[in-house]
Amino acid sequence: MDIRAVEQAYRRYARFYDVCFGAVFQPGRKAIVERMDCSTGERILEVGVGTGLSLPLYPQDVSVVGIDISREMLQQARTRLVRDGLEPMARLMVMDAENMAFEDDSFDKVVAMYVASVVPNPARLVDEMRRVCKPGGQIYMVNHFHSRNPILGGVESLLAPLSKQLGFRPDFSLDRFLGQTGLDAMNICPVNLFDFSTMVEARNNKQGAESIAAPAFAPS
Ligand SMILES: C[S@@+](CC[C@H](N)C(=O)[O-])C[C@H]1O[C@@H](n2cnc3c(N)ncnc32)[C@H](O)[C@@H]1O
Repeated sequence: MDIRAVEQAYRRYARFYDVCFGAVFQPGRKAIVERMDCSTGERILEVGVGTGLSLPLYPQDVSVVGIDISREMLQQARTRLVRDGLEPMARLMVMDAENMAFEDDSFDKVVAMYVASVVPNPARLVDEMRRVCKPGGQIYMVNHFHSRNPILGGVESLLAPLSKQLGFRPDFSLDRFLGQTGLDAMNICPVNLFDFSTMVEARNNKQGAESIAAPAFAPS
């Protein structure tokens, strides 16, 4: 995956994204927003907000910033904001989630829905999500990961060379993702029909994979 391929893919998807990926993945979006249990006044960042299918799910008394690299996807999200009267609680910005313009510790909670398998560098994405999230804040992901079902997993492996055209990696491994990012996962549970996707809730440990993987100091 590279960022230009992502932009091209989602330029193509933008107009019919909701029809193809709206209802089918909405249970995962609902589950994660419920899990976030947002409190009044919290600042929430949603990276890769796409057409904004999740925006009506947040309580009205939080402040949501949604970023996306695709102008065309964000245009659909803007239309939704106006149509659903959500402008007071949400702001949308074109921005690369791997290189965000926000200050450190800007948000209480940071969430990525169906984005981790799309970005060119998932470890970089998580590092940035950690950086902009307050210490002690939470990071949430929902994504489809490489299936452990041998038939489905086999099909996904066969499709992997088409990642650029598809706009996501069909063979994205949860174990590798957790290992590479060092996410301090508190909860991992299946969501969506047939448990097709996985929700990950993590503490913002702010340290990254290297420090977590480092052996503990043992005094001699
Ligand atoms: C599969 S869509 C998910 C959209 C939305 N979160 C949802 O639940 O439907 C992936 C989204 O991530 C965006 N994206 C991919 N790479 C990105 C990056 N580096 N920075 C910001 N957005 C990115 C794409 O443009 C696309 O809108």
